[in-house]
Amino acid sequence: MVKIAVLVSGGGTNLQALIDAQAAGAFPNGNIELVLASNAKAYALERARAAGIEAIVVSRKSYEDPADYDQAVVQALQSRGIDLVVLAGFLSILGKAVIDAYPDRILNIHPSLIPSFCGAGFYGLRVHQAALDYGVKVTGATVHLVNEIPDGGKILLQKAVDVLPGDTPETLQRRVMEQAEWKLLPQAVAMLCDQLDGASTGK
Ligand code: GRF
Repeated sequence: MVKIAVLVSGGGTNLQALIDAQAAGAFPNGNIELVLASNAKAYALERARAAGIEAIVVSRKSYEDPADYDQAVVQALQSRGIDLVVLAGFLSILGKAVIDAYPDRILNIHPSLIPSFCGAGFYGLRVHQAALDYGVKVTGATVHLVNEIPDGGKILLQKAVDVLPGDTPETLQRRVMEQAEWKLLPQAVAMLCDQLDGASTGK
């Protein structure tokens, strides 16, 4: 069984999509064992608790040195035997210590078609504002592996979403979540669970 941790910072709609997908049997060889929030106010914590999943806060603000934060995150994950890490609306940058501890085993969902509108400073509504400012007619979401470059790891899945006349950043974000993010992330988790489960059983 692949032990999954989901790292969150906000509302947790992507976490909820994973919880619902797991309940529907989308990744039978994986189990969400932990939700880790970078701040105590993340509503995602309530979603975890409602689903009976251990929910902890490793507050970014509590650590002056980013390297100490990374170590606290690694310790929280490794002490629970986590195999696969999913960043679902997680807003803190994870440093080398975390990436080295989980090589090719950290997933991130980004709300654009990378390499457009990504990298430092592109998160949440800012991504959709940039897409609208540029005037693109199609945007979407990307699931990628995490490396030390923000939004720079290997792309695993992408899904396109139309930009509609009159879209605001909020209406576009909602459509990208509904039509792309909430579908892609469970698919990517299922892919990685198959890979990791296969590796451990030599399939
Ligand atoms: C979403 O736009 C997601 O693409 C980005 O963070 C935002 C909030 O996600 N990664 P959630 O509702 O907290 O899952």
